Amino acid sequence: MAEKVRVGIIGAGRWADLVLAPGVQAHPQADLVAVCRRTKGSAEEFAAKFGATQVFTDYRDLVRLDGLDAVVVATPNATHYETCLAAFEQGLHVFCEKPIAMTTAQAKELWLAADAAGVKNMVSFTARFLPHARYVKRLLDRHWCGRLFHFNLNKQAGYGGIDTPFKWRWDREQAGGGVLADLGSHGLDLARWLVGDIKRVCATLPTFIRERPDVRTGELREVNVDDAAAILVEFENGVQGVLHISWVAHKGRTQTVELCGEDGALIFDSNPEGWEMGLRGSRRGDEKRVELPVPPELWEGIDDSTPERGFRSFIEDYPGPTRRFLDVILGDEPSAPSFYDGMKAQELIEAAQISDRERRWVELPLAG
Ligand SMILES: NC(=O)c1ccc[n+]([C@@H]2O[C@H](COP(=O)([O-])OP(=O)(O)OC[C@H]3O[C@@H](n4cnc5c(N)ncnc54)[C@H](OP(=O)(O)O)[C@@H]3O)[C@@H](O)[C@H]2O)c1
Repeated sequence: MAEKVRVGIIGAGRWADLVLAPGVQAHPQADLVAVCRRTKGSAEEFAAKFGATQVFTDYRDLVRLDGLDAVVVATPNATHYETCLAAFEQGLHVFCEKPIAMTTAQAKELWLAADAAGVKNMVSFTARFLPHARYVKRLLDRHWCGRLFHFNLNKQAGYGGIDTPFKWRWDREQAGGGVLADLGSHGLDLARWLVGDIKRVCATLPTFIRERPDVRTGELREVNVDDAAAILVEFENGVQGVLHISWVAHKGRTQTVELCGEDGALIFDSNPEGWEMGLRGSRRGDEKRVELPVPPELWEGIDDSTPERGFRSFIEDYPGPTRRFLDVILGDEPSAPSFYDGMKAQELIEAAQISDRERRWVELPLAG
């Protein structure tokens, strides 16, 4: 490989603009060389903004670019499978947005393709990179809570409210699911990462807003995905889990995660602005919960002096997902979260969808 990792971005929308491209650009040993999106003019604008010289409107051309080392895939969910598969076939390292596919079978195929290609592969489970989550993981690994009883996650987002128009996220064909696939994939991955594998799932996935005006034409379109997900899970180690995730929570931008065990409890949450996080805990014998400051080394340069600054800093100053991906390519670290984790999250999404449809508990792993 050349001295610098040469990266192409496929899908240059809101998230790529806000987080992924700045993450690549800020890395001292990476160059963003190519951009692909369907609209040529927008691709050219995006490329100019981030210093890329090559522009494509078809991902099949981008993945064949001479000298390319890696791709970041940030298109709508339905295209992840074919795009990642094409990249693995070219021997490229792949970072993909969540969820990585539309079905568990596709996700499994991608995981096996990554393995066969022998390349680095990462999934954008952003929640794993928050300093508080990483400290909780460290405390749990040191048995801070003792034998665990409960994992509770409550994520209330507001960007799917009544006034939000119909875009690809509200179309099952393009998104593979609603808030379950979108935010639920983060929550389910966080559950697996902190607690362990899940053996049974029971879910209800209501759609509250059944029609939305199309973002371009204004015509009413039928919504065929979930607006909220209430999920009960049983982990293989016996822990009981409850996840409630919504995108129709008015002005919602909060997440609370609580873990309770025989010897202690931990709770980490964001304030209503969505960034400033707190971590509190208590152990057997304590009178009340106390603040648990995250050790400085886990902040890795994030400046959270204000919520706005904290969010931008998480994107710009922190070795978050994209920058970690580049470090993994340059170093010896294994890929994490990998396409295996992406496949496990996909299986949980699919299990929840089956449970909702058939009104029953669903056992894992899924057959087939
Ligand atoms: N990890 C996280 O926390 C997080 C947060 C937000 C989003 N995401 C994920 O990021 C992905 C993109 O979300 P977004 O909000 O950025 O969506 P978005 O703003 O709608 O952007 C989608 C981009 O994909 C391009 N595109 C669509 N179909 C394409 C195709 N067939 N080939 C090449 N480019 C194509 C679009 O190009 P045109 O506009 O030219 O059509 C646009 O640039 C989704 O998978 C989402 O789940 C993850």
